[in-house]
Amino acid sequence: MSDAMINSEDNLMVITTHARAKTDIRHIHEFLGCHTSERWLNLACEHLPLLLQDHANCEKKAAGTAMNLIFRYEFHRTLQERLAQLVREEMLHYEQVLSLMKERGIDWHYLPAGRYAKGLLKHKRTHEPAAMVDVLIIGAFIEARSCERFGALADVIEDEKLARYYKYLLKSESRHYEDYLMLARSITDDSIDERVAFFRDVERELIQSPDDELRFHSGTPSDTLMANGIPPITTQSKDQPAKVS
Ligand SMILES: [Fe+2]
Ligand SMILES: [Fe+2]
Repeated sequence: MSDAMINSEDNLMVITTHARAKTDIRHIHEFLGCHTSERWLNLACEHLPLLLQDHANCEKKAAGTAMNLIFRYEFHRTLQERLAQLVREEMLHYEQVLSLMKERGIDWHYLPAGRYAKGLLKHKRTHEPAAMVDVLIIGAFIEARSCERFGALADVIEDEKLARYYKYLLKSESRHYEDYLMLARSITDDSIDERVAFFRDVERELIQSPDDELRFHSGTPSDTLMANGIPPITTQSKDQPAKVS
């Protein structure tokens, strides 16, 4: 039975109760230009509610971005098929993360996007098919980094259910990375290696350089962020209305 055919909460119970075969993500580590820093991992572990809120935002955005591509490039059959599956999976993940937030008493909290996706997309070329190649390569990096961070977090967080859930996500997120890269290669006769290398450098810089915010894809926590701390998010603030993005 496919994931999408199971009720998301039943599915979540199954996947977070039973151990799954380990997913090998060595190819993800080889693809990316760097590993996540210990400083980011330590801070993320101290702010799991914030991380879950940003994770929910990311799943929804991943589905939305893929849906936009489906509408924009409707001539491309393989893209339609792969991204339709990806949209289904990202929306299932979205529902699952909402369930995990509910279980932990984390209300929906407005959290603006960090610098990461914008920092990649600002380098997108504007003419076709170069723009499409770049968007697909950027998609591959975002999925690969998600995968790398789920793997790293699963090894260190004490919340066992969440750790098992992150391990479960490795399989689909690593496939999403491969699909985006395959689609980027499929739409051009030219080699995409140079653009992949370019975005690898941009992505590594975004991950390694100091960042004043903590997000799922944020950079290394800056000294300012470490000194000032992050206000906890556990309940919805009354003066900050929930915002539907
Ligand atoms: Fe996802
Ligand atoms: Fe994904």
